[in-house]
Amino acid sequence: MNQDFSGFWNIYIVVIVLLSVLGCAVLLWTQDRAKFTPGKTTGHLWDESLEEYNNPLPNWWRWLYYLTVIFSLAYLALYPGLGHFAGLFGWTSHNQYEREMEAAKTLYDPIYEAFQKQDVATLAGNAEAREMGKTLFLTYCAQCHGSDARGAKGFPNLTDGDWLYGGTPDEIKTSITDGRNGMMPPYGGNPDAVGGAAGAREVANYARSLSGLAHDSILAAKGKPRFEEACTACHGADGTGNKFLGAPNLTDKVWLYGSREDTVVETITKGRSNQMPAHGERLGAAKIHLLAAYVYGLGGGVAPSPEEASPEDTAEAEAEAGQVDSASTSE
Ligand code: HEC
Ligand code: HEC
Repeated sequence: MNQDFSGFWNIYIVVIVLLSVLGCAVLLWTQDRAKFTPGKTTGHLWDESLEEYNNPLPNWWRWLYYLTVIFSLAYLALYPGLGHFAGLFGWTSHNQYEREMEAAKTLYDPIYEAFQKQDVATLAGNAEAREMGKTLFLTYCAQCHGSDARGAKGFPNLTDGDWLYGGTPDEIKTSITDGRNGMMPPYGGNPDAVGGAAGAREVANYARSLSGLAHDSILAAKGKPRFEEACTACHGADGTGNKFLGAPNLTDKVWLYGSREDTVVETITKGRSNQMPAHGERLGAAKIHLLAAYVYGLGGGVAPSPEEASPEDTAEAEAEAGQVDSASTSE
């Protein structure tokens, strides 16, 4: 309980609350005692002829009012409401929350445990697990990735086969548990190599040519050497990206920020910085296992290679997954 809420203020509140409840009771009681003469009016007159009888309160109304007073006193005895008197039940919103969490734990823990014994790829085919994963996703992930997990500008689509950080069960789990932080520096960190704002347009045309989008071929030809100097360290010599840095594949039709020339120029000149918050501590391994299975099963999951995630294997798996890219984010 707050330290300031003691001493004088505590008593002040107790007195005011009790006085108002008792005041109501007294008012009611004095009304009960009042003498009423049948047929007598209050003496008020409206609209020339409209008068009001001075009759006693109806019984049902009076008793309802008494009950309200009794209810208030009982409530104040049982629940917190009178200063810092905790109430006879000792109820707090905090302990109610704890009790509910405890009840949910006893209910769900055995289910989670059973699910945790199955690997992510298997679990992705289990309807009950998907249902629970979906509920978790809507609670913890939908505000950024969308309730259909298709993402938005800057928030990756999790249903396609295109992954910034990889789509194997382990890679998805790592994304959720530890979070991710994609950082593209302005001009790829090297404005001289890019040739400033004018050069950025050339590089942008070259970048668009990589995925077969309309481009000015003269500008693109000028942009190519600039790209090789400033961009390949992260996006790869062929522009297919780098999962360890979260550098997107620039040769496919999936765009995180948009493929319009202006947008690409903006990406190059201003850079991009993006964060997927870590959920490990908040959610715990069991929920993340279910979420990973849910995300894996959305359509873009990449089967784990026998010795999980050696760079060649995942690059291959990604190339395969690239075949099913949705073109929806391409402009
Ligand atoms: C505050 C917004 C936010 C929330 C909440 C969030 N994400 Fe993300 N997530 C992102 C962003 C942004 C990225 C891309 C990070 C980057 O580009 O470096 C991302 C990336 C990912 C990736 C990697 C995608 C890829 O292409 O490799 C996965 C998987 C993912 N999120 C799953 C989830 C799941 C599951 C949840 C719910 C537990 C979740 N996210 C909650 C913003 C969010
Ligand atoms: C230090 C590594 C690094 C360098 C160098 C770099 N990038 Fe990037 N780039 C990234 C990362 C990481 C992202 C994703 C950022 C995010 O998730 O928000 C990105 C995103 C992009 C995008 C957005 C793609 C989309 O899907 O919307 C484009 C376009 C791009 N880079 C082009 C370039 C060009 C052109 C250069 C050279 C001038 C370059 N990058 C240099 C790391 C880099």
